[in-house]
Amino acid sequence: MSVEKIVVVGAGHAAGAFAEALRKKDSACLIMLVGEEAHAPYQRPPLSKAYLAGEMDVQRLSLRPDSFYEKKDISLKLSTHVASIDTAEHVIATAEGEVIPYNKLVMATGTRVRKLPVKGAELKNVHYIRTIDDVKQLHSQWQSAENIVIIGGGFIGLEVAAVAAKGGKKVTVLEGQDRVMPRVVAPVISRYFTEYHRKQGVNIITDANVVEIAGGETGAEAVLCADGSRHNADIVIVGIGVMANVELAEAAGLKLDNGIVVDEYCRSSDPDIFAIGECSNHEDKRYGRLRLESVQNAQDQAKAAAAAISGEAVSYDVVPWFWSEQYDLRLQMAGISTGYDDVVLRGGMGENKFSLLYYRQGSLIAIDSINSAADHMAGRRLLAEGLSPDKIAVQDATVKLKEFLAL
Ligand code: APR
Repeated sequence: MSVEKIVVVGAGHAAGAFAEALRKKDSACLIMLVGEEAHAPYQRPPLSKAYLAGEMDVQRLSLRPDSFYEKKDISLKLSTHVASIDTAEHVIATAEGEVIPYNKLVMATGTRVRKLPVKGAELKNVHYIRTIDDVKQLHSQWQSAENIVIIGGGFIGLEVAAVAAKGGKKVTVLEGQDRVMPRVVAPVISRYFTEYHRKQGVNIITDANVVEIAGGETGAEAVLCADGSRHNADIVIVGIGVMANVELAEAAGLKLDNGIVVDEYCRSSDPDIFAIGECSNHEDKRYGRLRLESVQNAQDQAKAAAAAISGEAVSYDVVPWFWSEQYDLRLQMAGISTGYDDVVLRGGMGENKFSLLYYRQGSLIAIDSINSAADHMAGRRLLAEGLSPDKIAVQDATVKLKEFLAL
């Protein structure tokens, strides 16, 4: 029998984690990652935090040193765009015309930034933060910049605002909705973060409707809003969300629904093609269909797909979790709060150490913790076990949240 060829489209976090997990289970198969970026798999979260702040070397972003892939016999084909998949022939073709055969294909194509659709968005000094190269470009202008205008008050926008404010820059955040981080947290947390940023001197403007970026040859000069306001900028940073890279999968005829639809083993509608990480959409046992943008999901789906491909299918069943860091605040989120009908506060907002528990019809569905790692860890276990602490008793932060696991 010939050796199984496992090809991964993408060389990001999910792809790297998958290759590693599969090699642990199967020492014989061929594993190849084909990725557009010039870098071996790396962590993206520090791009808007420590790496942007200049507190972390580029080498430390790598998931593994280059020698690891050689040692583990994992081939990395970088700076290579995959142009098509022929599912009948079981081959992919690169933009350069190279044809690569596979027995199993793993789509780990991730997401790309949503571009700001206004006049001037293509000017120099308008940046996005998704790749190492994006931040390298930004770094070349960062030192000398005084005024930073950030469009989008989500994770990226607020993390960058924190780095810039700590670096002594004058920062304005223009958020389109009526509160920051509206996609993920409850209004009470949005308000708390807005206040915290304002105390650090960041000008947070909500309900902002950006209509143009003004400037010329030398780059962006100001961001203009529909209400006539003008926000002077040496640098503009846009963080208005991401979209799944699904065009290749679509052209190959795979089933899509806000991402590539996969089953509990990360298998797509084609039994020989899997999809993992931010491009995949799975049926979650607790929350229904989800396309998750998180390191947790990239790593855990990578393991599930590796298990399925090596013949030990274990169904993917992990409580989703996420985090963000802004100043000395560590926000950790477990579960998905969408559709909650009640929230309960635990701990003191004044001490910058608290958690918010989200309930739906009496059941705990999510928990957001600020500087409360123990609550976050216990919250993940409560959610995994389907336990819902009493809403009154849980407010007493002198009782450890993990105590509720034993009840
Ligand atoms: N003008 C201003 N704000 C906008 C506009 C716009 N035209 N369009 C969208 N927004 C706002 C949204 O309301 C939201 O608050 O931009 C924010 C985008 O936030 P996220 O969806 O969290 O996306 P982003 O911050 O770009 O992060 C992208 O990186 O850190 C990860 O988990 C994060 O996967 C996410 C990705």
